[in-house]
This record gives sequence, C-alpha cells and structure tokens, in this order.
Amino acid sequence: MSERFTIAIDGPAAAGKGSISRAVAAHYGFAHLDTGLLYRAVGAKVLLGMAPEEAALTLRAEDLEASELRSPEVAQAASRVAVLPAVRAALLDFQRSFARRAGGAVLDGRDIGTVICPEAEAKLFVTASAEVRAKRRHAELAAAGETSSLAQVHADVLERDARDSGRADAPLKPAADAVTLDTSAMTLEAAIAAAIEIIDARRGGSGGA
Ligand code: C5P
Repeated sequence: MSERFTIAIDGPAAAGKGSISRAVAAHYGFAHLDTGLLYRAVGAKVLLGMAPEEAALTLRAEDLEASELRSPEVAQAASRVAVLPAVRAALLDFQRSFARRAGGAVLDGRDIGTVICPEAEAKLFVTASAEVRAKRRHAELAAAGETSSLAQVHADVLERDARDSGRADAPLKPAADAVTLDTSAMTLEAAIAAAIEIIDARRGGSGGA
C-alpha cells in the first residue's frame, strides 16, 4: 500500500496519547512512532553524563528499548533536553520521514501537528485535567513498581507541562486545525472510539485501511 496519511496526536503528559495512538495505528494498519521516547532516550544518556546534542546525534534504534525510559527521572530529563533547539533539530529529519512514510503513520508527541508535520491530514490534541492525568500516571507507575506518591506525580506533571508549554522552540500547543479531545471523563475505549470518529471524518468517512 502506498497511501500517505499522517495522524498527528499531540498533548500534555499522561493525557492518554500513547494508548490512543497505538490503538489508532492498529485500527488503520499504520506505523506508530512515540516521539516522546526519542527525547526520553536522549534524557537517559544525559543522566549518564553525555552532552545533550551528542546524545541526540548518536541516537540508535536500540536506545529506544531501554526499560528505564519510563521512569519519572528520565521523563524530567527528557523535558529538560527537549528545550534545547540543537536537540530538537537533531531529531527532526527522522520524525519527518517517518511521518510521510508510505502506508500511513501515527506520531504522538508535543509538536507533531505544529512543527514536525504541519501538513498532517488528521490532527488531534488529546488532553485531560492535571488531576486526572496525575492519577493515571500514578497508577501506571505503581503498576510498574515505582513508589512515587500521588502528590509527587502531580507536581512532576505540572512541572513538565509548564516547561513543555513555556519553551521558545516548538512549545506544546494545539495546531490551529487540530481537534481537541478532552479525555478527563472518558474511558480509554470511549477515547479511542472518539479519536477514530474524528480521523474517519478527515478520511472522508472511509473507515479502516
Ligand atoms: O510523551 P512523553 O511524556 O514520553 O515525553 C517526554 C518529554 O519529551 C516531554 O515532557 C517533552 O518535554 C518531550 N517531547 C517533546 N516533543 C515531542 C515529544 C516529547 O518535546 N514531540
């Protein structure tokens, strides 16, 4: 199949972007890229002492598989390196090529609809209240054996939101043509169904691939 169709899914931490993106990619048979993992992998290398730009320029596929990438420390390190224009520039071409690959692509992150792929055929801005996002992230971390308190997770989410939205280069914000999906009061299944409905409308109501 040679279809080029990009689905850009942006939003703040723990709004449900990852789960929605994976489900949407499976639904349409598209490839999926969690772009947060790129920044997390760079952040993890910086925590080990590497310079941020060098870490971004030398990133390899296997760096994205490390299990510690999901930890709160790496999340914070990711959002600190994500402020640096040289890091963002080093990761740009890979994300752009992925977005326009044949067969369709779903990318989730912070700047997909605004910077990486402004021409994306479908754009969603997935959000939820900070309280709901903190509770979800806390439950995820607890399931993975992390012991952070809910208050600490809430503070981390707010700190990352402020840094991601306040930076000069590619700040977190909805693209002008994105559809906002607030998942605060939705189950994951309902959020996935809503996302597919929005995307189907952009695909001319043609449904799955
Ligand atoms: O999505 P995730 O929580 O894994 O992202 C980790 C961090 O990477 C974010 O807090 C943000 O600072 C950065 N990021 C970004 N642009 C993206 C994806 C993630 O700046 N497209």
